[in-house]
Amino acid sequence: MNKKQLIDTIKLQSKDNFGKFPDQIIITPARVNIIGEHTDYNQGLSMPTAINYWMCAGISHSSSKNIRLYSLNFDKVIEFNKNKRIQFKEVWQKLAYEATLIINKKYHINTSFNISIGGNIPIGCGLSSSTAFVISFVYSILSLLSINLSKMDLAILCNKIENKALGTSTGFLDQYGIIFSKPNQFLLIDFRDDKIQYLPSITTGYSWIVINSKINRELSLSEYKDRVNECISGFHILKTMFDIQSIRDINFNMISHLKEKNRIIYNRMKHIIDENNRVLRIKNYINNTDYKKIGSVLIESHESLKSLYEVSCDEIDYMINFSLEQEGWLGGRIMGGGFGGCTINLIDNKYLADYKSKILYEYNCKFNVEVDFMNLKFCGGIQKI
Ligand code: GLA
Repeated sequence: MNKKQLIDTIKLQSKDNFGKFPDQIIITPARVNIIGEHTDYNQGLSMPTAINYWMCAGISHSSSKNIRLYSLNFDKVIEFNKNKRIQFKEVWQKLAYEATLIINKKYHINTSFNISIGGNIPIGCGLSSSTAFVISFVYSILSLLSINLSKMDLAILCNKIENKALGTSTGFLDQYGIIFSKPNQFLLIDFRDDKIQYLPSITTGYSWIVINSKINRELSLSEYKDRVNECISGFHILKTMFDIQSIRDINFNMISHLKEKNRIIYNRMKHIIDENNRVLRIKNYINNTDYKKIGSVLIESHESLKSLYEVSCDEIDYMINFSLEQEGWLGGRIMGGGFGGCTINLIDNKYLADYKSKILYEYNCKFNVEVDFMNLKFCGGIQKI
């Protein structure tokens, strides 16, 4: 389903389920991350951007005392009341319910509403479908209530909702990547002071593609939290030895003390230091349009995510190892939280079709699963239609 078909479907579903077309339509993109993985919650650097896959929400005032939500992806309507506690089990339901409670507490929702949400973002594979869902839901309600939040406040609110609803402790990569994106630009975010620079995403003759391994990852159930805690422990250990304010102040000399005594923490810290440097290196290579070097940094990043940060999985390692042998594949790596999900790859257009058919065949032979390909366009952040 393309963007226009999605918007039309949301309009029609709103009419079918709730008897009227939406008063407001919000369209929210998915995000990818070019480089800078697991650095956001460590005051580090990342380079995300929004892509051509979307979540669409249509909202309208209602006179019913319950809030009604239709999910296009699950083809289901749920109802709830902001003043009554309910235990929802499914992720989209928990997100919507928690969002309503938190917005109501902060801004007082003085109207009821019907909302339809759905999209073409693959769910649970590292493209921030949950974040896009929350942003669509929250931004729709705020628009209906005529509440204007700054982009930063919207990101903070949505991050709080997602972490509260799912019991996760993620950083701000997904929210910033979606909310602050501009067409054909990569964001270079410094999470120490939240400064954002924009870099041109132009890659004439080359394509960025995402490959979905179809190994599902559930962030709340994964070892993501362990990684967050390991980084906090690393910081506390090093703080007793050095004058540091955050993980960002840690350097190679400092972590050399941990190499023998605490190999796991050493590995995690080494990944963070190297990954921040990789973001800066890719920034330079983008400025010099040196695609080969961009690719080689992606390969380094994958090796680090696999061996030092330990967030990869066999299926994705297989895909990357196979790709290393393929002509025209400049580089790639596991993307997002990890433990499954997608890879992001940079490929020479001349070899793209051949590469795709080979990986489809090989991966299918090995794991009996067909990967999905997403050819990326960089389309900018949220839009009110
Ligand atoms: C997930 C989290 C982000 C970030 C990435 C890893 O996508 O939601 O905050 O930590 O993992 O870079």
